[in-house]
Amino acid sequence: MDQQDLGTDIEKVLVAEAQIKHRLTELAADIDRDYAGEDLLIVGVLKGAVMVMADLARALHSPVRMDWMAVSSYGSGTKSSGVVRILKDLDTDLKDQHVLIVEDIIDSGLTLSWLLANLKSRGAASVEICTMLRKPEAAKVEIDVRYVGFEVPNEFVVGYGLDYAEKYRNVPFVATLAPHVYS
Ligand code: XMP
Ligand code: MG
Repeated sequence: MDQQDLGTDIEKVLVAEAQIKHRLTELAADIDRDYAGEDLLIVGVLKGAVMVMADLARALHSPVRMDWMAVSSYGSGTKSSGVVRILKDLDTDLKDQHVLIVEDIIDSGLTLSWLLANLKSRGAASVEICTMLRKPEAAKVEIDVRYVGFEVPNEFVVGYGLDYAEKYRNVPFVATLAPHVYS
């Protein structure tokens, strides 16, 4: 799929497909180096992290285990409340495991800070975070994110796993939508 397939839906491409691919290669090299000689479990947060998980995992040079979680923030509206409910839990026991949480985007950081504490409490040997995108708001939260793909402005973005009303997840780049899409 490319921008032309989407007609006038796209306002601005913020991260192109080739940029994502290149950055994932760099992140994978960092992860390979940091976990050399260790078993690693990568945990994808559904549904947004599906694309990053699939591409990052294939860019790694060592075999990893992959597991998935689905969480939802309590509360209405588009802002996270920080109160999180587990919709689908991991199948894996985290005791003594090196865990890398893989996320599509960190906005307020509230969801992730909850998730980090939750996974750490299960006795993991280590829990780190890799996110494809980070918004500036996230800087206000005290979470140490070891791997960040790109910083994006504080606008609603879609593509590469991110949706608007469940659409546009399969767009291979990250973009903002034209105003007419929302009306
Ligand atoms: P936090 O807790 O960091 O929430 O505020 C992060 C979650 O919010 C969603 N989110 C977005 N989804 N475009 C999206 O499609 C965006 O620009 C966006 N910003 C935040 C997303 O589910 C993420 O996991
Ligand atoms: Mg969403």
